Amino acid sequence: MVSLSAALLLTVSTVSAFKAGFSGHSAKYSIVPGFFKQSDNNTNVKTFDYHDNLGLNDNLTWTEFKQQIEDLNANAELGVSYKVLYYGRHGEAWHNVANDFYGDSFWCYYSVFNGDGNMTWGPDPNLTPKGVSAAQNNSVLIKSLIKDDFPLPQAFYSSPFTRCADTLNYTWYDIALATGYATPVFKEVLREQIGGGTSELRRDRAYLEERYPAWDFEANFPFNDTMYSPEWDETNAGLQWRGRFFLDDIFQTEESTFISATAHGAIGAGILAAAGHRKFSLSTAAIIPLVIKREERLDFTPVQLDLEGTPGPFSTPYTSCPSTVSYTTLPESLASTVYTLGPDTTGLPVVTVTTVVTATPTSA
Ligand SMILES: *[C@@H]1O[C@H](CO)[C@@H](O)[C@H](O)[C@H]1NC(C)=O
Ligand SMILES: *[C@@H]1O[C@H](CO)[C@@H](O)[C@H](O)[C@H]1NC(C)=O
Ligand SMILES: *[C@@H]1O[C@H](CO)[C@@H](O)[C@H](O)[C@H]1NC(C)=O
Ligand SMILES: *[C@@H]1O[C@H](CO)[C@@H](O)[C@H](O)[C@H]1NC(C)=O
Ligand SMILES: *[C@@H]1O[C@H](CO)[C@@H](O)[C@H](O)[C@H]1NC(C)=O
Ligand SMILES: *[C@@H]1O[C@H](CO)[C@@H](O)[C@H](O)[C@H]1NC(C)=O
Repeated sequence: MVSLSAALLLTVSTVSAFKAGFSGHSAKYSIVPGFFKQSDNNTNVKTFDYHDNLGLNDNLTWTEFKQQIEDLNANAELGVSYKVLYYGRHGEAWHNVANDFYGDSFWCYYSVFNGDGNMTWGPDPNLTPKGVSAAQNNSVLIKSLIKDDFPLPQAFYSSPFTRCADTLNYTWYDIALATGYATPVFKEVLREQIGGGTSELRRDRAYLEERYPAWDFEANFPFNDTMYSPEWDETNAGLQWRGRFFLDDIFQTEESTFISATAHGAIGAGILAAAGHRKFSLSTAAIIPLVIKREERLDFTPVQLDLEGTPGPFSTPYTSCPSTVSYTTLPESLASTVYTLGPDTTGLPVVTVTTVVTATPTSA
């Protein structure tokens, strides 16, 4: 029998904390083609493996790549600049395992709890052992590329979630951190889709300072998580807006050309969309380099968005889990099981599975 803890410490949600630094919308971002397979429409997202030279096109060496990026910036017209963003998703964490274990339909109900007595997935879940190994394996991969003149990131940014900071640390520690070559910086804007499950509620700044005493925080980093709410979920538009905010931030304040960011799947999709990249979903622990061009555009009038208010224009209610869940297919292992979730003493919401269809293995 699972026992669920419903204890959630909640604070008022708002995205307006990002508003203070909101600027630079007179610029256009695009992806420079010809460098990486991930940015090529002909590359199959499902079969792509970042372990293969991080997707660098076969007709390029890292030495040539580095030179061509330097040339692009050296010869850029006024108002044009280029950066290479090494975007990384965190390794597998416990909420990823729990989501797979319960399946998407049930996860809507379970995700607002902290765990099930077997796994703890919130707040701020840790990496699983598999997630740690994947990040350590990334470190081996990067070390193998350094001998090929791979341009190391000159700046490192992390989402303020443990799964991202740990992934960044295990990947880059002895390459760039232990030597003092670079100091990672926590950025709130890199956090995952705001709201919903407890895996998106972060711990406070004091915890991060204790875990990573040598790391820095961006200016005005909020001590507590003031944005999370279990009652709403950030929309794709919100994620893209934050992606745009992040790009403006690094292009306007970061001098380095080669920049690493370690964050999450959904905010990654938002950053890619804001950069004009094609849709590209990253597996856990994946790292993909992106060559991003910024053009100042005085004629470009962005849509003005009013971000005041809660839940605001960029959120959608999360509490609207369906009151019944029905299936047309089930994994074979669950096919003959009838689920009844709550109400019971564990405090689970009432969920009735109305239709259980025996799964027919594979061929339709
Ligand atoms: C390298 O290969 C990519 C992908 O096939 C192509 O888009 C690009 O033009 C090629 N670059 C050169 C210099 O041949
Ligand atoms: C890739 O595909 C998208 C959507 O189909 C299209 O808008 C874009 O122009 C394509 N990019 C290139 C470089 O062909
Ligand atoms: C570990 O890295 C190697 C080389 O980069 C790669 O071939 C392998 O698939 C990786 N293993 C895992 C479990 O990710
Ligand atoms: C506990 O979680 C693991 C996945 O991490 C799963 O394989 C196992 O079946 C779960 N055990 C119970 C009793 O739910
Ligand atoms: C950071 O990585 C190093 C090297 O793998 C490891 O020794 C250290 O324990 C890690 N720190 C944390 C907080 O996980
Ligand atoms: C953070 O939250 C705790 C617990 O609610 C509260 O006691 C503390 O005053 C908050 N700190 C700040 C800086 O807001």
